[in-house]
Amino acid sequence: MQLLDGRKLSKKIELQIAEEVKGLKESCGCTPGLAVVLVGQDPASAAYVNMKKKACDRVGFYSITHDMPESISQESIEQTIIRMNEDSSIDGILIQLPLPEHIDTTKLLELVDPSKDVDGFHPFNVGRLVTNLDGFVPCTPLGVMELLKEYDIDVKGKNCVVVGASNIVGKPMAALLLNADATVEVCHIFTDDLKKHTLNADIVLCGVGVINLITEDMVKDDVIIVDIGVSRTKEGKLVGDVDFDAVSKKSSFITPSPGGVGPMTIAMLLSNTLKAAKINAKKKNA
Ligand code: GUN
Repeated sequence: MQLLDGRKLSKKIELQIAEEVKGLKESCGCTPGLAVVLVGQDPASAAYVNMKKKACDRVGFYSITHDMPESISQESIEQTIIRMNEDSSIDGILIQLPLPEHIDTTKLLELVDPSKDVDGFHPFNVGRLVTNLDGFVPCTPLGVMELLKEYDIDVKGKNCVVVGASNIVGKPMAALLLNADATVEVCHIFTDDLKKHTLNADIVLCGVGVINLITEDMVKDDVIIVDIGVSRTKEGKLVGDVDFDAVSKKSSFITPSPGGVGPMTIAMLLSNTLKAAKINAKKKNA
């Protein structure tokens, strides 16, 4: 069994990005800028945003967080997004999800300029992903693909079972795998007999936030496991969706959780923001 070490790879990517940022600053005086919208007091969301901000600092990006109260109106958030769309110091806009119930999330995601949509959640970029065209790809599944590539795992022709069908993880994960010529099944909460599907998988990619959902009896020998889930146990420990100790014994490769996909998500946010900044720098110089 070999660990798919997202922490190690994310550090390597950050160093490469920091180098590129230096070059960009020298060549055109441009500093990549990320704006984050955080609404309410959810501790997990606040922690994620804090990690994203620290990562921006490490690679030399400019970043700003619009920290808004739970009671904020739809119109106020919309005004903020419109301002960031027009702000030339901002290359990427990220709306931390989930948002409070009274907020129309879809409307906000559609308001983000697709060229600043570093989360890849705008339908324009979703459409480009599904049609295998260049665009912005959601950070978590993009990070998974980078991690597999780093360990020379080619998904072409492999049976991949994605567990979870969210817009943020499962659906874009399936699209990326399909674009890379994998055979893809997507299982979800209404799937009857999950084990029947996972037992047939060369690669299981699970991101639903259910502790110990994937157990050793559900996978075949030498399976590759990508654990995208993050949950907190009653004791306060962070764990994934996979029974790591037992399943790792049957796996050829497995991500730890934490320390696998999580750091890759942040690295891909930096990578997407740099991509946006480079496109904007070219436009400015044109
Ligand atoms: N909430 C959970 N995951 C994500 C993510 O990747 N991006 C944003 N914006 N919100 C999230």
